[in-house]
Amino acid sequence: MTAPGWRPGGRRPDVPSMLRVDQAGEYGATRIYAGQLAVLGDRHPAARLIAGMALQEELHLKHFDAMLADRGVRPTLLQPLWNVAGFALGAATALIGPEAAMACTAAVETEIDKHYAEQLASLGDEEPELSGTIREFQAEELEHRDTAIAAGAENAFGYPVLSAVIRAGCRAAIALSKRI
Ligand SMILES: [Fe+2]
Ligand SMILES: [Fe+2]
Repeated sequence: MTAPGWRPGGRRPDVPSMLRVDQAGEYGATRIYAGQLAVLGDRHPAARLIAGMALQEELHLKHFDAMLADRGVRPTLLQPLWNVAGFALGAATALIGPEAAMACTAAVETEIDKHYAEQLASLGDEEPELSGTIREFQAEELEHRDTAIAAGAENAFGYPVLSAVIRAGCRAAIALSKRI
């Protein structure tokens, strides 16, 4: 019989670091969509989809802001960087075109889905409230990915490269926000 919460390797999850990276990711997501909407305005059909996803990201961010405050966890020191980098990524992809903007969302959400799945696995049943939140948000991120693909993400010019570059950037951002 194993102790509750036991997991291979026996390492306890670092919950403050998890909250920090999640808040950073949701913050970054709001900045990406802000950049896209700044370019696309509110008339483009893609803008309506993006505005809907952006609203959910705002709610995700508010939730993690509150959890950080509750538990006295400081946000990542890289927030100013994610502010600028997120907005720039959103604006740049939207400038290429609406399909590239959608390719950006599909790439980001693919990595976020993996990230949340890893967190859920490492949390086990130790933090039911946090796990519940992550599960709920993960489902919405997958909806965003599906929305983006349905809106033509894969038709974006240079999709495989664009997607690979953005996914690598996300993984780097996640790794940095866990530590800093
Ligand atoms: Fe989100
Ligand atoms: Fe999302």
